[in-house]
Amino acid sequence: MFGSRGQLIGLDIGTHAVKAVVLEERGEGYALKRFGSRPLEPEVIVDRAIMDPQKIAQTISELFSEIGVRGKHVAVSVAGLSIIVKNIHIPEMTEEELEVSIQWEAEQYIPFDISDVNLDFQILGPSDRGSGQMEVLLVAVKRDKLQEYTSLVTEAGLKPAIVDVDAFAIANCFEHNHVVNPDQLVALIDIGAGATNLNVMDGTKLAFTRDMMIGGNQYTLAIQKELGIGFEEAEALKRGQDTAGVGHDEVVPILEKVSEEIFSEILRSLEFFKATTQNDAAIDKVVLTGGCSRLPGLQDFLSDRLGLEVERLDPLRAIENELSREEQEQVSAVAIGLGLRKVGDR
Ligand SMILES: Nc1ncnc2c1ncn2[C@@H]1O[C@H](COP(=O)(O)OP(=O)(O)OP(=O)(O)O)[C@@H](O)[C@H]1O
Ligand SMILES: [Mg+2]
Repeated sequence: MFGSRGQLIGLDIGTHAVKAVVLEERGEGYALKRFGSRPLEPEVIVDRAIMDPQKIAQTISELFSEIGVRGKHVAVSVAGLSIIVKNIHIPEMTEEELEVSIQWEAEQYIPFDISDVNLDFQILGPSDRGSGQMEVLLVAVKRDKLQEYTSLVTEAGLKPAIVDVDAFAIANCFEHNHVVNPDQLVALIDIGAGATNLNVMDGTKLAFTRDMMIGGNQYTLAIQKELGIGFEEAEALKRGQDTAGVGHDEVVPILEKVSEEIFSEILRSLEFFKATTQNDAAIDKVVLTGGCSRLPGLQDFLSDRLGLEVERLDPLRAIENELSREEQEQVSAVAIGLGLRKVGDR
C-alpha cells in the first residue's frame, strides 16, 4: 500500500517551486526513482504563508503526473515563525513522565498559547548544565499551520503521512550524505527564494535553528526595482545570463548589496546562537543548500565575509542516481530529507 517498504514521497512545498522525490531502498542504501519540480507564482506563498492553497494542490497534482509518481503517502514539512524548535534543560525524568508534563515544561518556551500548538519532544541525554538535568529537543508547531499543510495535501488527493519541520529534513539529508564529524559545529544554511533557514548542527544534534525572511526573491526584486524590468528578465539576469536590454555587469552591484544583507542576517543568527546557547565553541564550517546558494559567487562571498570554509550540500552523494551534475544541483535537500522517511517514523 505504501510502496516499497513504506518509503514516503518527499514533498518540498517551497516559495519558488514544489519539488518531489521518490527514493527506493536498494541494498544497504537508496536509489533515486523519481524527481521533479514545478514553479509557483510569486504570490502563491508569501513569507512562508500560504496564500493560494488550491493553486499549490493543483501544482502538486500536475507535478506527480508529469514525473509519474503513483503513490499517495507523502512527507511534507513546515517552516517559519509558527514553529519553535528549542533545546531545553529540565530535571531528569522518564519519557512517560515527560509525556505527562511536557505541556507544563514547554509553556515558558513557547510564545503562543500552549493550547494552539502541537508539541513533540525527544530526550537527547544528560545535560551539561548540572547534574540531575537532561537535555530535551522541544518542537512546537501551531496547529493551524499543520492544518493548512495537511488540508492542501489532501486536496491534491494525497495522504499526509508525516508533517516534519524543514530543519529536521535538511539535517536528515546532511547526515545521510555527508560524513559528520561529532566534534564539529556546522552551520547548515538553506537559502531559498522567500526565506533562509539556518541550522547549527553539533555533530548529528540539531543545536539551533532560525528562519530569516530573506532569500533569492530579494535579488530578483532589487533588480526589478533598479532596472524597471519584469520578474522573468530579472531572474535570468540574476543567474548570470545576459538579456536583450541589459548586460550582467549592470546587475553585479545590485547583487552584491543583497548578498551583504544576507550575510548580515546570517551573522546575526550565528551571534544569536552564541548568545542563547552556552556553547563557546566556534562554528567550524558552513554547508550551503537551496536554489539561491547557486547564485554565481555567493559561496565565495560568504566564505570571505564569514572567514569560514563554505561548501555545498550534496543531497545525492550517498544515493544511487543517474542524473547529470547540473540536474543533481537542482535536487532539493528538504525533499530528499523527507523522502528518506518511512511510514511510522515520527
Ligand atoms: N543558478 C541560480 N543562480 C541564482 N539563483 C538561483 C539559481 N537557481 C535557482 N536560483 C534561485 O533560488 C531560489 C529558489 O530556491 P529554492 O527552490 O531552494 O526555493 P524554495 O524552496 O522554493 O523557497 P523557500 O525555501 O524560500 O520557500 C529562487 O529565488 C531562484 O531564483
Ligand atoms: Mg525551500
